[in-house]
Amino acid sequence: MTLLAHSTSTAEQSPGEKKDILQVLLEGHEELQSCTALAAQLGQLQDASPPALSSAASRLIHCFKLGMPAHIENEDRGLVPLLFTTSLSQDLIQLLWVMGRQHEELERLVDRLVPLWTALRDTPERYAELAGPLARTGRQLQALMEEHLSLEEQTLYPLARSRFSPARLMELAQELAHGRRPPS
Ligand SMILES: [Fe+2]
Ligand SMILES: [Fe+2]
Repeated sequence: MTLLAHSTSTAEQSPGEKKDILQVLLEGHEELQSCTALAAQLGQLQDASPPALSSAASRLIHCFKLGMPAHIENEDRGLVPLLFTTSLSQDLIQLLWVMGRQHEELERLVDRLVPLWTALRDTPERYAELAGPLARTGRQLQALMEEHLSLEEQTLYPLARSRFSPARLMELAQELAHGRRPPS
């Protein structure tokens, strides 16, 4: 089943491939959406085999403990500080604050899910016992993630596109990929 397939998209740049930071972040959103859909459906996979359940849980741990933090860091320590070098209205500052809070809420939900995913990965025969909490918290993650990604794609990314040249956005992607962006 395709839902359990491992995606290869990590929003990382391969050598010679030039993407600007917004393209990198949008690819990250595709991966997050795919992983979030799996997290939300994990409580309804009663017909899946134990190895498939274990593999799905393993993918989710990878996605939300490695992929999501890297994505959030690119936004919170790359894109947002760059936006603060420009003139921002109070409304925009408030919006950036809301998105930052959503990052924290997403991280808290993931912290609740990781022990469940780890238990499923290591002991998939416990699925019947884990399915309820996996479904409930997975749906909460999905609701917040959908709201968050949509807010970013409708406001944050167009704002950045309007404020910076394609060359500057490309440069930021390179800086972040090579860890040259100073801590904010
Ligand atoms: Fe975000
Ligand atoms: Fe994002």
